Amino acid sequence: MKTSIFGMGYVGCVSAACLASEHHHVIGVDVSQQKINLLREGRSPVEEEQLPEMIRKAINNGHLSATTDPREAILATDLSLIAVGTPSREDGSLELCYLKSVARDIALALKEKTDPHFVVIRSTVPPGTTEHILTPLLLEGSGRTLDHDLFVCYNPEFLREGSSIKDFFNPPFTIIGARDQHTFQRVSQLYQGVKGAIVRCSIQAAESMKTLCNVFHALKITFANEAASVLHGCGTDAMEAMELFLKDDKLNISRAYLRPGFAFGGSCLPKDVNALAALGRAHGIDTPLLSSINASNHAHLLRAISLVERQQEKKITLLGISFKPGTDDLRESPALRLAAHLARNGYDLRIYDPIVCMYNLLGANLHHMQRIMPDLERYLDYDLDRVLDHGALWVIAHVTPQVKKHLLDRARKSPVIDLSGILSPDAAMFAYQGLCWKTPS
Ligand SMILES: NC(=O)c1ccc[n+]([C@@H]2O[C@H](COP(=O)([O-])OP(=O)(O)OC[C@H]3O[C@@H](n4cnc5c(N)ncnc54)[C@H](O)[C@@H]3O)[C@@H](O)[C@H]2O)c1
Repeated sequence: MKTSIFGMGYVGCVSAACLASEHHHVIGVDVSQQKINLLREGRSPVEEEQLPEMIRKAINNGHLSATTDPREAILATDLSLIAVGTPSREDGSLELCYLKSVARDIALALKEKTDPHFVVIRSTVPPGTTEHILTPLLLEGSGRTLDHDLFVCYNPEFLREGSSIKDFFNPPFTIIGARDQHTFQRVSQLYQGVKGAIVRCSIQAAESMKTLCNVFHALKITFANEAASVLHGCGTDAMEAMELFLKDDKLNISRAYLRPGFAFGGSCLPKDVNALAALGRAHGIDTPLLSSINASNHAHLLRAISLVERQQEKKITLLGISFKPGTDDLRESPALRLAAHLARNGYDLRIYDPIVCMYNLLGANLHHMQRIMPDLERYLDYDLDRVLDHGALWVIAHVTPQVKKHLLDRARKSPVIDLSGILSPDAAMFAYQGLCWKTPS
């Protein structure tokens, strides 16, 4: 397969060397004459284990060549990977000018040939860049037709500097964001020697993947460092504690708590988040991450309130008032705060939660309810059908499987705001809006 790679930095050089080692014919393109000269001499422009030997071998056996001329590379290949830099701008957003410049170069060269061409973006970009910025540049400049003689997709790179050759052949998965199966299959052929599943998804999901992964890794490192600093500050063996923490693969190192939904609440999470940050302060340890968790959770509650308010519908049915299903605990329940806000602001509200019974509320639970929404009782109704009949808008904080089944039986395109995601698989049955996920068209 004849492949050109634009950008001979870390990603481009590693991709070039690895693909060449798999017998692809690769042309490396860069604006830096110095990097191209090094490559032509069989030397690597970047330091990575195994890379210098792989580049020397690929140059010597003719599987790899290098040029500063985009035209030469495009005319000699049928697929181009783009791996130019996308550094930070001053405001933190990504600089896309190098990508745009390559797109224009490729488009211009494509005018001189008629064979179909595949363009695969590998640089890290914000979602929407491929379809709304780069594809239009490629189409305008080349005069080609998308999905006919020009195919564009996004394929994130998961390598880590320092172990990049190993990572190239052993990624967690290969993701190809493609508009059609034809492009997916063609680009998949590049990765026949690579381990792990090859997954097709939308271009925007693929674009978001690298950033999501990197940010999550940064979050994990920061959590471990802040938590350990607080523990160490109060004389605890932080390594021992973190090793124990890592042993829990049910709730800690798992898929748990990673699906988007409503804000968290209850008697433990908000309290213990505050407690760890306070412990840090008591020992003079700054914890910006821990100290921002409850504020971020509150911002999520405000997004839910704003979404309900934007519907301009006064008759509301709220399902679920405790902090999660299966309990009558109202402490720090985001649903209770949402209900209190709506009631205070003149909404005609009815609430259904079969487990929350006013006469059973005691102690701190009762006290919290009296503080946040002392007149909760007048909004509660235990007749599900009557509550559903009331609302022109159903707001779902949480429901049991039985109540969900009842909702589906009655759905008939009823307007629904789903705060927990529980109805998202059945969204088409409702006039559905998710709190922070796509509304199906
Ligand atoms: N470095 C990593 O570990 C890593 C891992 C995954 C993804 N990424 C992403 O991949 C992209 C590339 O990262 P990198 O670290 O390889 O960047 P880099 O800065 O090392 O290399 C970018 C190369 O692009 C070249 N270039 C700029 N404009 C060009 C043009 N018009 N034509 C041809 N070449 C041009 C530059 O001269 C440079 O050699 C970035 O978006 C980065 O975020 C990087």
